[in-house]
Amino acid sequence: MTGRFVTFEGIDGAGKSTHIDWYVERLRTRGIDVVQTREPGGSDLAETLRELLLRRKMGMQAELLLMFAARSDHLERQIRPALAGGQWVVCDRFTDSTWAYQGSGRGAPGERIAWLESWVHGVLQPDRSYLFDLAPELAARRRASVRAPDRFESEDSAFFERVRRGYRDRAQADPGRFVVLDGERAVSEIRVILEEDIADLCNT
Ligand SMILES: Nc1ncnc2c1ncn2[C@@H]1O[C@H](COP(=O)(O)OP(=O)(O)OP(=O)(O)O)[C@@H](O)[C@H]1O
Ligand SMILES: [Mg+2]
Repeated sequence: MTGRFVTFEGIDGAGKSTHIDWYVERLRTRGIDVVQTREPGGSDLAETLRELLLRRKMGMQAELLLMFAARSDHLERQIRPALAGGQWVVCDRFTDSTWAYQGSGRGAPGERIAWLESWVHGVLQPDRSYLFDLAPELAARRRASVRAPDRFESEDSAFFERVRRGYRDRAQADPGRFVVLDGERAVSEIRVILEEDIADLCNT
């Protein structure tokens, strides 16, 4: 009975939400007990902090600290208990988002992020992270058709270029954990890759 910790990453509009419900359903079809969650958020306190993070104007330092405050509560109340009980946890965004947005996007120093990461989650890292990689202009066009932009989504394309590069650096540094998915491919093609990877994850 060993749970797995799986995260979905990528810039706004890259395709995470399009696949995550389907992915969780595929796991359940295999009889796997899954907790689906998201960041920032996933616990009562963290969802309250999410509202502030997505709506209120704030500096980079406050943003970085609130992200980790939310993550700390989410880990303690949701993620760690689920994994300890043998459940799988599938999370829409996690600390790679912090490296990409607050680090590469906003310029928060890497050593501060690394310190907070090790304080808040110790040695815990996702077993698998899917990076939905897509050009910022295309992602912006896709998400514009879905809803009004939040504070992050209102950033310009230079910001999202930095975030995208940050994500790609993360993936390159840890190829065993990441699966990079080309967000330009059809939904059905991406699902074939995800399905194969689920089989791999179940067999390791
Ligand atoms: N492979 C694809 N081909 C064409 N359109 C897609 C594809 N993947 C997602 N879309 C569309 O792009 C839009 C944004 O996708 P989605 O909401 O999944 O992004 P997201 O990564 O969850 O973004 P956010 O971080 O803002 O929540 C949706 O309208 C979705 O239908
Ligand atoms: Mg989404």
